[in-house]
Amino acid sequence: MATYLQCIEDGCRLRQEAKKEESHRCAACGGLLEVNYDFPAFDPEEMRQTWHRRRLSGEPVDRSGVWRFRELIPFLEPHDRIISLSEGSTPLVGTRRAGWWAGPVHLTIKHQGNNPTGSFKDLGMTASITRAESRGVRLVACASTGNTSSSMAAYAGRAGMKALLFVPYRQISAAKLAQALDFGALVVEVGDTFDEAFRLLREIAPELGLYLVNSVNPFRIEGQKTIVAELLEQRAWRPPDYIVVPGGNLGNASAIGKGLRELKEMGFIDKVPRVVVIQAEGANPFYRTLAANSPQLIPVEEPSTEATAIRIGRPAN
Ligand SMILES: Cc1ncc(COP(=O)(O)O)c(C=O)c1O
Ligand SMILES: [Zn+2]
Repeated sequence: MATYLQCIEDGCRLRQEAKKEESHRCAACGGLLEVNYDFPAFDPEEMRQTWHRRRLSGEPVDRSGVWRFRELIPFLEPHDRIISLSEGSTPLVGTRRAGWWAGPVHLTIKHQGNNPTGSFKDLGMTASITRAESRGVRLVACASTGNTSSSMAAYAGRAGMKALLFVPYRQISAAKLAQALDFGALVVEVGDTFDEAFRLLREIAPELGLYLVNSVNPFRIEGQKTIVAELLEQRAWRPPDYIVVPGGNLGNASAIGKGLRELKEMGFIDKVPRVVVIQAEGANPFYRTLAANSPQLIPVEEPSTEATAIRIGRPAN
């Protein structure tokens, strides 16, 4: 089955072959790329049963809430080694008081803190580090507001790769920094914001031959999108009315959108839930862009919020 990279820009959509030296920018227009496949026709019921059956298996590839749904991310080549820490398979937690406060609505939480390094980033990281491993990469890098760094450091450690991390000066949670250091990442504090750290990293990446695992790496999105399949499975494939996520770089929101679209196209669901993206008032570029109905991103030059993980003014996704 063919896997290809495709530009996400509506006016371009250029398909490009995934080369060994992987670039995450469109060769024609510089736009972001997504991973697409020529999916075979699935029998959704049969597929659901296969996924369900794997939950009883002891194989690492089946224990993972990402790779259990591997038919949705079929970019592996025959001898690829999967780098997994048994991510995913996180619980759905019913709420009463929070749901009452928020509506009242029937609110259920998909508890992503219940991942190996404590955040949803692990879903995408297992995919991008597996991809890096298949490309023979020895050094991975990212800029991060916190959770991506711990996740990258853990998965790079698991794969035996070196990890280089750019974080904004004194702007990430001490716990997350400690975690990344503990897993052996080389940490560089640079710039006043995530956006600045990320810009600097992107500038030096080609020169140093760094493999970036920020969410502009489209394989991150692939791993991350499996959360939708898991969530639907836990709900007996009945889609909720809304899926609500915080938005920083908007990788997670993009992944959820891609996952839902694909599952609908393949006949797993007939209704797509509305995706609601929450931003802090002081770091709300996506909100501003939509509210102004602007075709161009309206960035926030000095993003501010206590929620450091989403303190981002120029989302990359
Ligand atoms: C706890 C937490 N919430 C939300 C986000 C934002 O996710 P995204 O950048 O995919 O929008 C992040 C990522 O930085 C995070 O760590
Ligand atoms: Zn393009």
